Amino acid sequence: MQLDDSFARERFPRSTKYDRDWMIANSMGPNAVWITEFLSEALELKPGMKVLDLGCGKAMSSIFLAREFSVEVWANDLWIPASVNETRIREAGLTHQIHAVHAEAHSLPYEEAFFDVIVSLDAFHYFGTDDLYLGNLAPFLKKGGQIGIVSPGLLREFERDPPEHLQPGWAWDFASFHSPDWWSRHWDRIGKFDVQTADWLQDGWKFWAHWDRVCEEAAGVKGDAEMVETDAGRTLGFVRVVATLRETERWRS
Ligand SMILES: C[S@@+](CC[C@H](N)C(=O)[O-])C[C@H]1O[C@@H](n2cnc3c(N)ncnc32)[C@H](O)[C@@H]1O
Repeated sequence: MQLDDSFARERFPRSTKYDRDWMIANSMGPNAVWITEFLSEALELKPGMKVLDLGCGKAMSSIFLAREFSVEVWANDLWIPASVNETRIREAGLTHQIHAVHAEAHSLPYEEAFFDVIVSLDAFHYFGTDDLYLGNLAPFLKKGGQIGIVSPGLLREFERDPPEHLQPGWAWDFASFHSPDWWSRHWDRIGKFDVQTADWLQDGWKFWAHWDRVCEEAAGVKGDAEMVETDAGRTLGFVRVVATLRETERWRS
């Protein structure tokens, strides 16, 4: 019997248009369509805007943004070759609106001030926790443009060790999970951006665990469901951060 997604369908109405099997087949972790809808609620997206989707994976977020908001998207990824994403983009009928690019986040092949918006779904924590990363990314964005991310994160930072109940399932690279306050400070201290949103998806852990169970049931892919269910929102969930590039840096005259 198929797991019941109705609570997610209620929370993410735009996402209900997207085929469940397509989302399972292209899944690389949390449901990218749901978290892109969550992010889009805090962005100002207008038709024709140029959007960089950084770490787009199998480009489901790019397809969602192009369809829902009529924006033009550069679907940029490292692990997934551009040719593979091109096939998916063609199948979605969006070759006129989405450009697949294979590039590493530290050597992006774009002109200065090219993008109106930069988004990153379940990807920014892989490269963006470096103190200087956001400052080096800023030149690709137009002044007044927005950057927005959603990543797995922590409700609160902990001093050193993860809580005991999480330790059995804790992977070393969860060290890049951070709280909304952490991300807000991390971006704020660069002085190039005004942080507008740094918050938490209500009941995010339920969507995380549920989608892991769906993929487990459909494709036999084991995720983090057990750990996330044990935690039940005490620590783990999804952080959303949105900021606008300032006209001038905060501390320079
Ligand atoms: C967990 S996957 C998420 C993919 C997609 N956004 C989604 O939600 O399904 C993380 C993605 O980040 C990308 N990524 C990780 N490190 C990167 C880097 N240094 N430069 C560019 N992309 C990177 C990977 O290629 C991968 O597709």
